[in-house]
Amino acid sequence: MSPLQFKYLHKLAGHRVLIFGGTSGIGFAVAEAALEHGATVILSSSKPARVENAIQRLKDAYPDPNFHARITGYPCDLSIAEKLEEDLHPLFNQATENRTALLDHIVFTAGNWVKFSTLEDLSLEYIRNVGNVRYLAPLIIAKLARSYMKVADTSSITLTSSGTHFRPPLQWTAICGFLAGLEGVTRSLAVELAPIRVNTVYPGSIKTELFDGWPQDKLPELMDKWASQNLLNKIGRPEEVAEAYVYAMKDSFATGTMITSDGGKRIK
Ligand SMILES: NC(=O)c1ccc[n+]([C@@H]2O[C@H](COP(=O)([O-])OP(=O)(O)OC[C@H]3O[C@@H](n4cnc5c(N)ncnc54)[C@H](OP(=O)(O)O)[C@@H]3O)[C@@H](O)[C@H]2O)c1
Repeated sequence: MSPLQFKYLHKLAGHRVLIFGGTSGIGFAVAEAALEHGATVILSSSKPARVENAIQRLKDAYPDPNFHARITGYPCDLSIAEKLEEDLHPLFNQATENRTALLDHIVFTAGNWVKFSTLEDLSLEYIRNVGNVRYLAPLIIAKLARSYMKVADTSSITLTSSGTHFRPPLQWTAICGFLAGLEGVTRSLAVELAPIRVNTVYPGSIKTELFDGWPQDKLPELMDKWASQNLLNKIGRPEEVAEAYVYAMKDSFATGTMITSDGGKRIK
């Protein structure tokens, strides 16, 4: 069979994938995977320098000029709730070349650093801020997405939550509210946006740049603890969980679902 006749390997070939949070960690791995599947990737995150750096890292990793033509990126800070809509339109216009190249997929892995809060310290301001990037931004993105996406069952939006709300640690109350809320949002958006599909990935503990902000002297101990919480006794790698996002993009019958890649943490 010639490679051109493959039914599965080339499902994403020629697709346009906008990745919020594509400049590091899980999102960057999704960008690598989408590129390898023949898609065009558009990376976005809040810092212009990180967008440029990620584009360069992808180009270095895939030196073939055919790959370079399929890598772009634009900054957009998702942390200012009041400006979300205003800031997202220019990004969508860049990503779709002013709606002449509509998107097939949106992958959302953006997540800023948030502090944990004891119940005693919980404030309305903290609760609002903690959900800006991970909860409010995906809702506004989904609101705007339809006019920048191909309306078909081959199109998808894939969000990111976490299984933490199934077994919440101390000081995660407000965060767990948003993580759990994304499940309802996923189902509702799947209903609203059909035939565009909407799914959410639940990653377990994955070693990414997210942990650069943690106290580095305590990190090895924490990593050991998190590894011991799953059946495989390990911390996941971004290129492992990236497969969940690839699946969500490729299976044109999957919508409204939660896809877990957590080493079996939920059942240990
Ligand atoms: N790693 C894990 O163990 C794990 C487990 C469960 C769930 N998750 C969730 O999965 C998501 C991705 O995690 P990760 O480990 O890949 O983290 P990461 O490596 O830190 O990546 C986060 C991405 O979000 C972008 N970002 C941060 N603030 C932003 C903002 N204000 N506007 C737009 N983009 C912003 C970052 O780029 P800039 O800094 O340039 O903005 C970066 O591209 C997060 O929501 C995280 O909570 C992670």
